[in-house]
Amino acid sequence: MKRNERVLSAIQPTGDIHLGNYFGAIQNWVRLQDQYECIYGIVDYHAMTTPYKPDTLRANTWKMAFQLLACGIRPEHLFIQSMVPEHTELAWILGCVASYGEATRMTQFKDKAEQLRQSDKSAFISVGLFTYPVLQAADILIYKAHLVPVGKDQEQHLEFTRNIAVRFNHQFHSDYFPLPEPLFTETPKIKSLADPTRKMSKSLGEKHYLSILESPDIIRKRIRSAVTDTQPNPESISPGVENLFTLLRATGQEGIYSELLNQYRSGTLRYVDLKEAVAEALIKLLTPIRERYAEILANKKYYKNLIKDSSADIRNIAAQTLREVKDICGLLHAARTVKATDQNP
Ligand code: TRP
Repeated sequence: MKRNERVLSAIQPTGDIHLGNYFGAIQNWVRLQDQYECIYGIVDYHAMTTPYKPDTLRANTWKMAFQLLACGIRPEHLFIQSMVPEHTELAWILGCVASYGEATRMTQFKDKAEQLRQSDKSAFISVGLFTYPVLQAADILIYKAHLVPVGKDQEQHLEFTRNIAVRFNHQFHSDYFPLPEPLFTETPKIKSLADPTRKMSKSLGEKHYLSILESPDIIRKRIRSAVTDTQPNPESISPGVENLFTLLRATGQEGIYSELLNQYRSGTLRYVDLKEAVAEALIKLLTPIRERYAEILANKKYYKNLIKDSSADIRNIAAQTLREVKDICGLLHAARTVKATDQNP
């Protein structure tokens, strides 16, 4: 039985989904679909907050959509943010009830601005990067979502969203927006293969991550060269070995996992065997995803239309909220919508 609460989450179109994204978030999104009413967005407006190329953004947005479908997200739960432009209009309205002081304390803004400055002293920091959390609040509140599955790094943005909702309700219309709660599901935290003290991330470089679309050959190669240690210590496991065990368990291979863990504890484990097991488990898990992705690419047009349709359906929910919000705030509505020729690539 599905519960009545609505779940909303979103991901930036970064190109490839890697194992960190998959085990840390997407796998959980797939499971939540059977428990709640779920809406998942690919947030391309958010991806404009740091320097980018239009063609890459467009390609990555579709790529992310196809990969999410390949992972098992159902098309009716998926939308592309720029196909629901109401998000940006609500973001403006929410920006007028969001606290400037609180916005200046967002650590993700400070971290990203710092990263940009480090790569280039004269780096351009946009207003969009600063108001990013307001758009995120709009993503959540426009669907009156109750639960938001996110990582701990998004806790502050969720708190900001709640404060915006509280202030809106207090100023205009008590109880209009339900207060969204973060949903912190315990998910495996995957580390870089080449530097297991850091979180797996594409920005660290090729050797550090594995995409979910990788071929069996590359999977074997990358796992074989994953960092372990030379002096195993049963008392305290090294980050690299721990990461391999985390990966093995994440693939659902509980039996092999406990068998190898016992070998590790008794000091008989050979890391080649552990790596072999991890690589084979990943190949088994990822092969159907890679095949489904290929099938989707071969029928691109059909799947693009599916996502355009689901985005249009989800847009109806967003448009209804925006109409109500505009009424509540004293804004006006246009007499009719302006027609445009459909040239969406
Ligand atoms: N900021 C989120 C991240 O960096 C992505 C995001 C944008 C999001 N809008 C959202 C997450 C709404 C949850 C809900 O991961």
